[in-house]
Amino acid sequence: MALWGGRFSQAADQRFKLFNDSLRFDYRLAEQDIIGSVAWSKALVTVGVLSSEEQKKLEQALDQLLTEVQADPDAILASDAEDIHSWVEQKLIGKVGDLGKKLHTGRSRNDQVATDLKLWCKMQVALLLQGVKELQQALVITAEQNQDAVMPGYTHLQRAQPVTFAHWCMAYTEMLARDESRLQDALKRMDTSPLGCGALAGTAYPIDRDQLAGWLGFSAATRNSLDSVSDRDHVLELLSDASISMVHLSRFAEDLIFFNTGEAGFIELSDRVTSGSSLMPQKKNPDALELIRGKCGRVQGALTGMMMTLKGLPLAYNKDMQEDKEGIFDALDTWLDCLHMAVLVLDGIQIKRPRCQEAAQQGYANATELADYLVAKGVPFREAHHIVGSAVLEAIQQGKALEELSLEQLKTFNIAIEDDVYPALSLKSCLEKRSAKGGVSPDQVASAINAAKTRLDI
Ligand code: ARG
Repeated sequence: MALWGGRFSQAADQRFKLFNDSLRFDYRLAEQDIIGSVAWSKALVTVGVLSSEEQKKLEQALDQLLTEVQADPDAILASDAEDIHSWVEQKLIGKVGDLGKKLHTGRSRNDQVATDLKLWCKMQVALLLQGVKELQQALVITAEQNQDAVMPGYTHLQRAQPVTFAHWCMAYTEMLARDESRLQDALKRMDTSPLGCGALAGTAYPIDRDQLAGWLGFSAATRNSLDSVSDRDHVLELLSDASISMVHLSRFAEDLIFFNTGEAGFIELSDRVTSGSSLMPQKKNPDALELIRGKCGRVQGALTGMMMTLKGLPLAYNKDMQEDKEGIFDALDTWLDCLHMAVLVLDGIQIKRPRCQEAAQQGYANATELADYLVAKGVPFREAHHIVGSAVLEAIQQGKALEELSLEQLKTFNIAIEDDVYPALSLKSCLEKRSAKGGVSPDQVASAINAAKTRLDI
């Protein structure tokens, strides 16, 4: 039976009921709804609505229900209850009879659902923080093993300057560190309890809402009842955190997909995260990475969807807000799955060092070195840039690398060029020179790895 049948003389149309019911997705809030109900029953004792005895009975029954739910959450789906709040109340009444009907005193599903969802978000943030940390750990470990794996760095997908695979890994570690701090930041802001705000105007029982908030693990109660039941900023913030992090993961995926092409050939992905073609026997496709890249889209979609659902909504609760759940559930599940999958990809990755080195050597990635060499000999940088441009053009025409031009040939571009130009053009020197903070020099990368290891408890 619905929670609200009294003023209706006709039953709901079956099609409307299907359209309106949310149990098929909000059953995921069962634990939070039960925990919130226990706390609410305790609050009702403080205002004389329930005796301690009654509260104990309710709490026992709710605890039992929690155990049942934890053992088999999908069993909830067999019910035709409207939503998880109706389901918990129905079950409670089934266990303790009429006493169960007292629990909803002074409470509304509006403050209840707002509380349940915040509790769920907080729990999910803990899982996501762990997921983000594990991927950073995997990246740092991969970096540590590949400090001497030189490969080309790109701008505009054109070979630009040599980097190392370790430096690439540490770049993604930085992005994920920001994702982590965004989650921590969002967590602070969602740490207030809406329970006791009633339908919209506050509860008519003089409940100590801060104490109630504390029982639920929140640091305080919210400050305005109208805002509390209609606030879904925490949903938007988490969707936004997820969207940004998924953009990072999609770029990680795209880089690796490119590194894995026959054309680049810098890495080999493990058989455990790739799949074959039904037609072409030679194929080994980077499906795990393509799915990470692809799933980025649905997460952005969830953020945009929720923004549009909330846009222009009048205060306070409106049924539109029931649309908050499927998007956030799916987006956060997807994000967590992708974090886990990225760890799995790194776990079996093989870096093909000779090929990486060869590619780094080609494509005039050391042209900046020649310009810097000339600068050291007193040529102004702008002029040096121009001179090296002509040298590169000549080398391209001869089908040679810069360091393959003879000293005589090089001297035709600038007389200051001497024999010491060759070591300056080596990959080793390219890397070592970039020793200012954040650069690709082996020392800088090693200290970035060490700092990250301390931060990430590796
Ligand atoms: N199923 C609803 C939701 O998810 C619960 C709140 C319903 N409140 C109401 N006044 N109809 O938003």
